[in-house]
Amino acid sequence: MTARIIDGAAVAQQVRAEVAEAVKARVSAGKVVPGLAAVLVGENPASQVYVRNKRKACEEVGIASFGYELPASASQEEVEALVSQLNADPKVHGILVQLPLPAGLDEQRVLNAIRIEKDVDGFHPMNLGRLAQKGRDPLFVPCTPAGCMVMLEKELPSLEGVNAVVLGRSNIVGMPVALLLVRANATVTICHSRTKNLPDVVRSADVLVAAVGREEMVRGSWVKPGAVVIDVGINRVEDASKPKGYRLVGDVAFDEVKEIAGAITPVPGGVGPMTIAMLLKNTLRAAELAD
Ligand code: GUN
Repeated sequence: MTARIIDGAAVAQQVRAEVAEAVKARVSAGKVVPGLAAVLVGENPASQVYVRNKRKACEEVGIASFGYELPASASQEEVEALVSQLNADPKVHGILVQLPLPAGLDEQRVLNAIRIEKDVDGFHPMNLGRLAQKGRDPLFVPCTPAGCMVMLEKELPSLEGVNAVVLGRSNIVGMPVALLLVRANATVTICHSRTKNLPDVVRSADVLVAAVGREEMVRGSWVKPGAVVIDVGINRVEDASKPKGYRLVGDVAFDEVKEIAGAITPVPGGVGPMTIAMLLKNTLRAAELAD
């Protein structure tokens, strides 16, 4: 049997339409237009694409988008001074500093400098810390993990007692998605580069979230029949037949795994659009918190 394809683009479109409606209602009620500041330091080509797409998505739903570009040579003080300026700007409700930062900049200090009320990426240690604690709630949940959960819950409305395996333990995806799965009462295993018998562990998963950044690493033989597979990877693979000279593939060998899994997200068109949709939702929430 072939897996159901979880159409992230369609789910994201629904979320975007809801955000657009809410922004319109705010503006009609005389409230301030939500604003997002996107900070890009250096010239990482993938980051440039991501920031451009995020800013375009803002404009499409009526959120004001303010772009700030600093050279890779920017000092720690310059980046933090920009964050302080945005913290104080009443037109800016959300601040996004695109990661990774160029070598030499201290990411943790930059993220610490963002006011938690404007931390729409949910990367401030206070927001991540609250996510990790029982009985506490963060102001914002990181966008990619939140998007993974929305897609998962479409397939499995209850994750209670489900065996979930997360491949990868990054601050941006692996660890926060594992925390969200725990909060949803799944039984969670986090795998990483030192995990022994990785294919066996992955085969125990009813739900698999792959977020390692290794092209097509998860093979069909690693997947339990009927599992729900969320592929967070966006890897560029050289392909001379494509106009750009590359194509995008996930962390999952899609053609093999779709024959085994119950449901799977495609790359592109799966998690990627959901990340942006959740950022829009978080920015709207930040504006509401500021009302
Ligand atoms: N780099 C990769 N994913 C993200 C994200 O969701 N937000 C930011 N700011 N940087 C990223």
